[in-house]
Amino acid sequence: MSFHWRTGMDQSLILYGNNLPILQTFAPSSVDLIYIDPPFNTGKTQTRHQISTVRDKDGDRLGFQGRRYRTVKVGSTSYADTFDDYLGFLRPRLAEAHRVLATTGSLFFHIDYREVHYCKIMLDEIFGRECFQNEIIWSYDYGARSKQKWPAKHDNILWYTKHPSKFTFNLVGCDRIPYMAPDLVGPVKAARGKTPTDVWWHTIVPTNGKEKTGYATQKPLGILERIVKVHSNPGETCLDFFAGSGTFGEAAAKHNRRFILIDSSLTAIEIMEKRLKRFLWSNLMEETENQSYPRVTFHLQEA
Ligand SMILES: C[S@@+](CC[C@H](N)C(=O)[O-])C[C@H]1O[C@@H](n2cnc3c(N)ncnc32)[C@H](O)[C@@H]1O
Repeated sequence: MSFHWRTGMDQSLILYGNNLPILQTFAPSSVDLIYIDPPFNTGKTQTRHQISTVRDKDGDRLGFQGRRYRTVKVGSTSYADTFDDYLGFLRPRLAEAHRVLATTGSLFFHIDYREVHYCKIMLDEIFGRECFQNEIIWSYDYGARSKQKWPAKHDNILWYTKHPSKFTFNLVGCDRIPYMAPDLVGPVKAARGKTPTDVWWHTIVPTNGKEKTGYATQKPLGILERIVKVHSNPGETCLDFFAGSGTFGEAAAKHNRRFILIDSSLTAIEIMEKRLKRFLWSNLMEETENQSYPRVTFHLQEA
């Protein structure tokens, strides 16, 4: 497969394909902030709806050289979120993340209790233990409660920087949260709220809310906006190469950052296209040789 995109473009992009060969085309130190939320190796089956794009002169999507396409549902697919060699899958991708990160940049790695310890050791090897900054616990309270053990109601987000001490950290840009005992701090402080610790209480994406895209593993926008605002600056480049429904892209675009999103699922690409269209001036669909469906690239048109 060949990729038509060039590094150095100042457009936001959604790229369809296996992230490893795509990342290998990026220039070193070319992105400022990376957030990734890879499959968690849960041992469960994830079900996805399969779609295909076919040429149709009346289709609602405009493609390369003015060709029109329409999307057809061709059924559902399931895959087991089980990797025989999970760390072997992640390692070259995390090595690429380190390579493409700018000197003041950060990686946020979202995982859960099943794999976090193994991933922490691997990330220490790749980034250096001195570049590990925080383990953020995202705590929520939703769903069934086990009666056999303490219900697991948190995810783990590991924060690594490219440099041990020089990195972007705009705490002033952070949203503030209410004091637990506002009466103890006085009315001014109580009204202003406080900055969070490394434990972030946040609801899951509400099942009926307008944020919901229908993507099974969608993460809450509020969590990712906090990461974008504190760990990058306006105009910088934010990358998510396990992008899913594009939550990180929306967080970046809302705060005037450029986004690059990669996913190997056409369903994810379709959802991102719909979700992020309002941040794109136009979209362009390009065909890739020797494929039964077109590769999709959405980008800001140059002014
Ligand atoms: C947990 S989901 C990400 C969800 C996302 N954070 C959101 O808020 O919607 C992980 C994504 O990684 C994608 N993925 C898995 N392996 C991939 C690969 N080798 N290259 C690109 N994407 C991949 C899956 O298709 C899936 O959409």
